[in-house]
Amino acid sequence: MTVVLIPPAINKYAEDHTSAEMPALAALNRETNMKVEMPVMLSGKLQGWVLQMMSHMAKPRRILEIGTYTGYSAICLAQGLAEDGHLHTIDINEELQDMCFRYFCEAGLEKKITQHIGKAADIIPALDEMFDMVFIDADKQNYHLYYDMVFDKVPVGGFILADNVLFEGDVVLPEEQMGKNGRAMHLFNEKIKNDTRVEHVLLPVRDGIMIVRKIAN
Ligand SMILES: C[S@@+](CC[C@H](N)C(=O)[O-])C[C@H]1O[C@@H](n2cnc3c(N)ncnc32)[C@H](O)[C@@H]1O
Repeated sequence: MTVVLIPPAINKYAEDHTSAEMPALAALNRETNMKVEMPVMLSGKLQGWVLQMMSHMAKPRRILEIGTYTGYSAICLAQGLAEDGHLHTIDINEELQDMCFRYFCEAGLEKKITQHIGKAADIIPALDEMFDMVFIDADKQNYHLYYDMVFDKVPVGGFILADNVLFEGDVVLPEEQMGKNGRAMHLFNEKIKNDTRVEHVLLPVRDGIMIVRKIAN
């Protein structure tokens, strides 16, 4: 997540020609960078807008996010929710819950977002909902598990998005040189490639976003 896969000048040009962050997101981005460990985990302006635009296009009624961190991507995704829509977001780290809630309030989304604290693998089965859009952005070793756990909760035509699928470029290294997470991402990408129930595109934006559309049960 620290390696810039897109040449910095191109990345800057793309950011310069992308709408500004809404004030709540700009403040959240700033506070995360000043006060929170691992601010590199935050989606940021460019990826945030990609998520926001995808959500606007799909107009989901229900979104599930796995990996809230400080709430940046949750706020972006929630922008595109249908009128009666709702976003559920899961994180294992309770320390950031209050900060997230403060920014959900600042963005006027406190009634549209429910935070769940705990291990995603424990919480997902307890969510008795169908999700038009799922965003997987938590521990890389378990992406394959989360994909399997959510698959039946997504209707045909729904979307599963996954972040960091290029894992700093690790996925193109010879197998023996891949790190643990790079290998997990490579295996996840191969799993998607071999799944005939979906169509998919790997966008080389930031650290790589896999967009999966379910076409069969
Ligand atoms: C990359 S960050 C999420 C960034 C966020 N989606 C954004 O774009 O701003 C990953 C998050 O996953 C959480 N996480 C890691 N393992 C988890 C698990 N087993 N269950 C739930 N959350 C987990 C971490 O606490 C961390 O906040």
